[in-house]
Amino acid sequence: MSNSKLVYSVLVFFCCFTCSTVSSYFFNTSLTTEHIFKCPAQQSRALLLFKDDLFEDIFSDLATDYSSCKNWLGDEGYHPITMNWNTNTDCCDWKGVTCDHSTGDVIGLDMSCGMVLGTILPNSTLFDLPRLQRLNLAFNNFEGSQIPNEIGRFSKSLTHLNVSKSLFSGKVPTNVTLLHNLVSIDLSSNDFSLEPHVFLSVLGNSTSLKELLLSDVIINSALPTFLNISSSSLKLLNLRGARLHGKLPGYFFNISSLEKLDLSGNQFTGQIPIEISHLPKLVSLDLSSNHYLRIKPNVFNNLLNSSTLMRDLRLHDVNISWVLPTEHINISSYLNYLDLGNCSLMGSLPKSPLNITHLTYLDLSNNKLNGALSSWLLVLPSLVYLDLSNNIFNGDVFFNSSALPALQNLNLGKNQLVGRIDQAIILKLSNLTLLDLSNNNFGSDWGLDTLLSSLTNLYYLDLSYNHFSLTTNNAIHYANHNIRFLYLASCKLKEFPMSLRYMISLFRLDLSSNEIKGDIPIWAREIGDNYYLNMSDNFFPNRLNFLNLSHNFITGLPQFQHYGLQYLFLQSNQIQGPFPPSICNMTNLHSLDLSENGFSGRIPQCWVNNTYVFAMDLSNNDFNGTIPNMFGDCGYLEGLILKGNRFQGELPSSLSKCQALKVLDLGNNLLNGRLPHWLGHLQNLQALILKSNNFYGPIRTSPIVESPFASLRVLDLSHNGFVGQLPRKYFENLKAMMSGLMSTNLEYLQINGEYYSVVISVKGQDLVFAKISVDYKILDLSSNRFEGEIPNIIGNLTSLIVLNLSHNNLTGRIPHDFGKLKSIESLDLSCNRLTGEIPQSLSELTFLGFLNLSQNQLEGRIPSSTQFNTFEGSFGGNPKLCGLPLPKKCNKNLDESHTEGEEVRDEEENGFTWKVVILGYGCGTLFGFVIGYLMLSTGRPKWYTSITDAGERMILTHQKKRRRIIYIGS
Ligand SMILES: *[C@@H]1O[C@H](CO)[C@@H](O)[C@H](O)[C@H]1NC(C)=O
Ligand SMILES: *[C@@H]1O[C@H](CO)[C@@H](O)[C@H](O)[C@H]1NC(C)=O
Repeated sequence: MSNSKLVYSVLVFFCCFTCSTVSSYFFNTSLTTEHIFKCPAQQSRALLLFKDDLFEDIFSDLATDYSSCKNWLGDEGYHPITMNWNTNTDCCDWKGVTCDHSTGDVIGLDMSCGMVLGTILPNSTLFDLPRLQRLNLAFNNFEGSQIPNEIGRFSKSLTHLNVSKSLFSGKVPTNVTLLHNLVSIDLSSNDFSLEPHVFLSVLGNSTSLKELLLSDVIINSALPTFLNISSSSLKLLNLRGARLHGKLPGYFFNISSLEKLDLSGNQFTGQIPIEISHLPKLVSLDLSSNHYLRIKPNVFNNLLNSSTLMRDLRLHDVNISWVLPTEHINISSYLNYLDLGNCSLMGSLPKSPLNITHLTYLDLSNNKLNGALSSWLLVLPSLVYLDLSNNIFNGDVFFNSSALPALQNLNLGKNQLVGRIDQAIILKLSNLTLLDLSNNNFGSDWGLDTLLSSLTNLYYLDLSYNHFSLTTNNAIHYANHNIRFLYLASCKLKEFPMSLRYMISLFRLDLSSNEIKGDIPIWAREIGDNYYLNMSDNFFPNRLNFLNLSHNFITGLPQFQHYGLQYLFLQSNQIQGPFPPSICNMTNLHSLDLSENGFSGRIPQCWVNNTYVFAMDLSNNDFNGTIPNMFGDCGYLEGLILKGNRFQGELPSSLSKCQALKVLDLGNNLLNGRLPHWLGHLQNLQALILKSNNFYGPIRTSPIVESPFASLRVLDLSHNGFVGQLPRKYFENLKAMMSGLMSTNLEYLQINGEYYSVVISVKGQDLVFAKISVDYKILDLSSNRFEGEIPNIIGNLTSLIVLNLSHNNLTGRIPHDFGKLKSIESLDLSCNRLTGEIPQSLSELTFLGFLNLSQNQLEGRIPSSTQFNTFEGSFGGNPKLCGLPLPKKCNKNLDESHTEGEEVRDEEENGFTWKVVILGYGCGTLFGFVIGYLMLSTGRPKWYTSITDAGERMILTHQKKRRRIIYIGS
């Protein structure tokens, strides 16, 4: 609310006030003689005193908030409804007041959308209207008011009560149960709570009640299984978001007068009873967002059957999970609105046309539907909204030229549809406001400029991740001004489209993974700039919120002036030069990714007060200098990824305030100093990567930090100068590495919703993980100068997948407890000074796919069971080791004490070799979790962060009792 509006409102108020007083002074006689009755003085006084408690709600913005108020307000402008209430006129002439024709008693008070603000107290004179039948206070601001128990004084008269959307709060008084004549009660959309017994009493006595509207009134209870409401005459019952739980009771479905029933947004469980389909008058049913509710096929079919009057059926997020019938479908021809989104539906759409020509809304999104899109669907004459996204529909989509004339919303995203879609046909859908074809296999050449300038109602366009080739001739400079969301990732765009310049409402722009070359034009620094929030005085300059230009061939940027930007992705381009200073002014930035470019120089000390940054990835550039203390109180920072630069100096201690940090990846820099013990304090830290730096000294634990690194899953300190004993106390506390439980759903490490990509040395090779499962637990302390014995306690890290202690000066024996590392897939202890025999327990590690014990001083026979024989090259450089797979035979004495060796040889002679079995097995498990992995052959890694890469294909393999997922890159 700006000052100017305030002044204006006051002026309007004053002007209208004087005008109306003057006019009523002159026309007083004529007005009163119009009526043969007169408002009783006592009631007139009561209303005026009530008016005295009210104010003009100068902050109300009815026109934007409540579309239902628009008509009411009409041309009369904005002023409170009580404006003309005054002593000079009869109260029956006041706005919103209705009187009885014979007695003059006030019988109706309609103050809805009245722009009034106030509190209704128990002593309010509102209750001094003994004949009041209809009270409507909806769409006002009674913030903080409760409904006083005095409402019971209307018990003889009140038939209609509406206080919806008026910011009331508190408990609904018990006395509402005294209002025996009520026909309609609407308490929706306030901050009310309602005691279950009051609710049941109102419901149970609903012989005259026709409308009970309680959406968002919190009842928060299970309902009794039995309640006699067979005499109810309810037509409308709305209990949306009432926090009802427990079994869905059957009695709602005995109310044969019911026309509209809304039980959405609760937590009902159990089956939807069959009685529901026997309600003769039911036209509208909403059970959406009851995730635990189930419905049987026959009940569902009955609901939709042509014998019903059903117009509006909403089951979004109800767990249907069965196969859609394809034959004998007999749908009610009244059907207008059908929402079956997120219902776990399977099967395919019926082939033969359904008689649903009145259908305007169809949502089948987020199911597992497959097969082709039926041709009857794409010609429905009334269809306005069609959402089939996130299914597995496949095949060609045949739009003919008379397709879907009324369509406004078309969402086919995230399916496996193919084919060429003629642009001319899409252009005919001139009412389109939303078009989403993303993540399919459509392949057409479309002219972007024509598309954007023809579909003038479009505000949302997503063509990403298909095989589209979009061309722009950059000559047409007109594009519709409504576009807010433009997603054109992977559309083979060669230029930064000129039409963007005219999209003054642009909010989100994704041009990633295209072929845009060269410098981004200067004018782009202010695209989307002039967005005015509808009907409000608030001017948001620089409204652009999301900008993704990653994975192109961009060489230069303008100084972006989008200071409101929250997401900026520029990774994998060829941009050189200093850290863009304009980024310092983006004080709302949540995520910044500048990785894989040629940025250089120091990072400015500019974020001191920015506490909104969740993720910052500057990796693989040429930045240098120290890591600045840039994170103020560091509220939200979840990921700081600075790997692959030339940062120097010690870790800034200000990082210790970053308690939200999940990922700290500073690998491959020139950092030095000791390992700061405050790192252990970061209780959410899941990945700490300091590899290939110049850190030095012993790792000391601090007595102040009680359980350091409790969440850590990935710890990589390799290639540094650490010395001394391995940090035993840390191993004791790596709780996340101890838990033997795998997450039930495959879950990946995420930073502010984006996957974290990491390079890890596994099986002797550096692998790029575009995303990493939270179950992938890694400990790499290799290539340092650690000495002394390996603590037995490491054996307790039972969910470790990768352990690398190679290239140190470790002595003593390999702990027998390593046999407890049941999940281990890669174990490297090579290049140390380990002595003694290899514990037999190691041979029981069934997932082990890689083992390297070479270059130590181990002795004795190599345990000869299971996969050990396949680990050629894993035992060399231990002169005193003998047995397979080494060529050196063990002497007789050893043979006697280890008889298993004989058995192995027997098996080989029988033609069965462990080698083959284990090799295949080992590879399968080892590459589990790896997504689009890529070997690093040359200096700087080329890594992929593509998150929604449509080309990703998943193969699920079940091995033993553990689930593994292998992704094969496109
Ligand atoms: C263990 O680390 C060393 C040196 O850091 C590396 O050369 C080796 O490949 C790693 N081992 C495995 C199995 O990745
Ligand atoms: C084991 O480590 C040694 C020393 O780093 C290396 O030479 C050898 O190739 C490794 N063996 C395997 C199988 O990777």
